[in-house]
Amino acid sequence: MTGAAPSPTRSRRPASVASLLADVRDVGRDPRRGGYSRFAYAPAELELRTWFEAEAARRSLDVVTDRNGILWAWRPGPGGSLDDAVVTGSHLDSVPGGGEFDGPLGVASAFAALDLLDARDVGGERPLAIVAFPEEEGGRFGRACLGSQLMTGEQDPDRVLGLLDADGTSLADALTGAGLDPVHLGRDEEALRRIGVFVELHVEQGRGLVDLDQPVAVASSILGHGRWRLTVTGEGNHAGATLMADRRDPMVAAAQVVVAVRDLASSRPDARATVGRLQPVPGGTNVIASRVDLWLDVRHPDDDVTRALVAQVLESAHAVCAAEGCAVELVEESYSGQVRFDAGLRDRLRGVLPDAPVLATGAGHDAGVLAAHVPSAMLFTRNPTGVSHSPEEHVDDADAEAGAAALADVLQDLLVPREPR
Ligand code: GLV
Ligand code: MN
Ligand code: MN
Repeated sequence: MTGAAPSPTRSRRPASVASLLADVRDVGRDPRRGGYSRFAYAPAELELRTWFEAEAARRSLDVVTDRNGILWAWRPGPGGSLDDAVVTGSHLDSVPGGGEFDGPLGVASAFAALDLLDARDVGGERPLAIVAFPEEEGGRFGRACLGSQLMTGEQDPDRVLGLLDADGTSLADALTGAGLDPVHLGRDEEALRRIGVFVELHVEQGRGLVDLDQPVAVASSILGHGRWRLTVTGEGNHAGATLMADRRDPMVAAAQVVVAVRDLASSRPDARATVGRLQPVPGGTNVIASRVDLWLDVRHPDDDVTRALVAQVLESAHAVCAAEGCAVELVEESYSGQVRFDAGLRDRLRGVLPDAPVLATGAGHDAGVLAAHVPSAMLFTRNPTGVSHSPEEHVDDADAEAGAAALADVLQDLLVPREPR
């Protein structure tokens, strides 16, 4: 990280996205998994928060961490107003072993875009904020978009404070460890009221822009998606002393559930279903597990299809578990229906960026959570590999700058009152 002292906004050259990201390139590298593991409120994400605060201070922005752990960097409007703000940003946390750009690209692009606006000397007429939402990936506590869903009231604080991470640390303790008071978690009317419009820039998590040979796109929609946890219980026992015929092995049942998930989803057009996390308890090579926790991610544009698919998975799980002498329970962890971004705002972005194609995405985002509450939009920056949630995710420097310039153009259009036609 750089440690230069804050300087007044207009005395600096605009920072490039590449230089901003270079300052945190080594934060949260995961030598075991590859890529980055930047879990909410764990040391790497806290270091990124410190970087965010330093970049905000360098630009004379006022940094606030709100009651849900969301970081804000404010440039107030006339008279110090924070109302009806133009808000941009993304998240700093990652999936386990994720890429460098999913989240931080949107935050770095926001700072770079602000520098471009400053260089153009525009935009003081309306408040502007750069935001970083915690636990967007649910990589630590399992709930996707936890920070934004707490802010909008979609997650009940009393039901999430006891969530445990892989080491048994509760969300309440993680918040306390990060200097936040868990009692203040929950729907934040003031924060919602201040957001006049939210625009999130994100690395594209597919090949749409590669195929269209364009650096930047405007988002149209986000696929509906949810998470469920299946707990398969059997009988823990000794790997050498237990005959094959005498076993009630939940791992064998769980393996069949994984195949059933693949088969059931494959038979439904547009469905995507994944078991990306399977945890045997206690998890020893010479131990027949007593329990297996299996996390299921299902996505489809139609809620009814998603619900039917999950019901079929459970039915199939009951059958295979019964055949293995095991039992299964299912709990819904989170659900977000299909999001269609505000059409008027999307068209406004297209007016500013006439060459940008309009793309749908299968990935979830805080902008999707906010879309039900405030006008929201997204920009995507090209990812030449088309791969994400993997160390293979990539953004070329020139595309990162094109993304920041596009974001600056969009923010300028939103910040500067238009002449009446
Ligand atoms: C987050 O990127 C998700 O789509 O799960
Ligand atoms: Mn993301
Ligand atoms: Mn992601």
